[in-house]
Amino acid sequence: MNLLSVAFIFHILIDRTLPLTEVSAELSKVWGPGLAPDKIIMPARYFFIQVVNAANNNITTPLTEPFQVVIDGATKTKKPCRLWTAMLDRRDGSYIVRYKMYEPCVYMKISVVHENKHVAQSPYIINNVVYPEDCMCPKKNFNEVTSSWDCGLVPSEITKRLNVFNKIHWDEYRDKLIKTFDRPHAVSLCHYVVKNNEIYRKCYGKYVGFNMFMDNILLSLARKVELPDLEFFVNLGDWPLSLYNLPEKFPILSWCVSTDSYDIVMPTYDITESTLENMGRVMLDMLSVQGNVEASWEDRIPKLFWRGRDSNRHRLNLIQISRKYPELFNVSLTNFFFYRDEEHIYGPKSDYVSFFNFFDYKYQLAIDGTVAPYRMPYLLAGGSLVFKPESKYLEHFYSDLIPNVHYIPVKEDLSDLVDKLKWAIDNDDAAKEIAKAGQKFANQYLLPKNIFCYHMQLFDELSKRVVSTVTVGEGMEHVAQTKIQKCDCDDRIKDEL
Ligand SMILES: *[C@@H]1O[C@H](CO)[C@@H](O)[C@H](O)[C@H]1NC(C)=O
Ligand SMILES: *[C@@H]1O[C@H](CO)[C@@H](O)[C@H](O)[C@H]1NC(C)=O
Repeated sequence: MNLLSVAFIFHILIDRTLPLTEVSAELSKVWGPGLAPDKIIMPARYFFIQVVNAANNNITTPLTEPFQVVIDGATKTKKPCRLWTAMLDRRDGSYIVRYKMYEPCVYMKISVVHENKHVAQSPYIINNVVYPEDCMCPKKNFNEVTSSWDCGLVPSEITKRLNVFNKIHWDEYRDKLIKTFDRPHAVSLCHYVVKNNEIYRKCYGKYVGFNMFMDNILLSLARKVELPDLEFFVNLGDWPLSLYNLPEKFPILSWCVSTDSYDIVMPTYDITESTLENMGRVMLDMLSVQGNVEASWEDRIPKLFWRGRDSNRHRLNLIQISRKYPELFNVSLTNFFFYRDEEHIYGPKSDYVSFFNFFDYKYQLAIDGTVAPYRMPYLLAGGSLVFKPESKYLEHFYSDLIPNVHYIPVKEDLSDLVDKLKWAIDNDDAAKEIAKAGQKFANQYLLPKNIFCYHMQLFDELSKRVVSTVTVGEGMEHVAQTKIQKCDCDDRIKDEL
């Protein structure tokens, strides 16, 4: 045996004994829109870290020795940039880093270090000025923005719903639409016009406070990109408006649509607001829900957990079923309003449980309330297995979800829920795989970047179909940018700095 082969055998022996839990800084992966903060401007920037060992396998347990992430840079007056950085531990060997900026920053650098070694391609040096989200620096070229954000193809739901209309001539629709839906006690609706990147609206109805959600996303987009001139109507209520049985179809934007309406679906005000207020006013968003879950799949209690109010008869039905199978369920109503006179049967109502603690349990139920359950994105992101009753109501992403791949479908009356729960308990590996696929879906399609992209693509596609001239209508209110800082929008770093 020659020396070389001795060395070779020795090498294999050493390789075999490599501890598989030892982190390889080099092989670990770092990715996400927060690494391109000069191009992708969001209220909170974020990126991911996946820990990988020396054999190039993912490590799936939390690290004992955490990463050090340092994000820094200088202001134009050469002071350190004010930034707030936070790390979320997903407890599965992966991490989310998010950060918020308060002022424009040059020479920005993102370092991810583990035990004194740079991870992946760290440090990441940003070669342009990086702006906070409240700078009014709209880029001129809409397509350049969607492509630098890597928005991908136009979501199929946008195309499908807009194709019903083909060309939209508002001069023909406008008055009829207002006349049909001007029912102040039943309908809340706003008419919007975007002209020269300024926003105008006029609302109809008694309860129009929710227009702030539409205002906020439009204002935020108008700071990033020059929006196409646009005219549209937004339904502020829960129920879709443009029902099949009306004599005419109307292109109305809604947060929830149904299989028997022509409304054009957009992300719910809930997920849109949590996108805009990430690291801000909201506690629950698509990232926080992943970093505040305590238990890994194996440690979660194998029961279906649910809390919510009595906004749907099927929810009462759920309570009924659970009483026959206490070993399978931990469910209760938190509030009686719609069926107050049945509280003595379906009560008592239970104490508040933090949404993050829902994921102490393996199984979740996305059951309709008045319409689709707006918690669905968060349920998927939490990594438990989601059971979803059939329903005619749809959020913007439902048509991309695949039953038995991303979630378990059940009948609307819940008659097969017990059997399917038993199946999940008996087939834990398969159940875990579906839960993980659901979480992966949420991370691919429902994060803040995706919510921004969906809106940009929706407005772009809509504008391509509107053939009437866009003018600011009589009595429309100007929705002004508030809380913006003054920024010099030239993002090239100048030499004298
Ligand atoms: C390792 O992790 C990455 C990032 O989370 C993921 O895309 C990939 O599928 C994982 N690989 C395996 C073999 O699980
Ligand atoms: C149901 O869940 C709540 C919240 O996690 C918990 O406090 C309670 O003990 C559970 N009930 C049962 C019967 O396990």
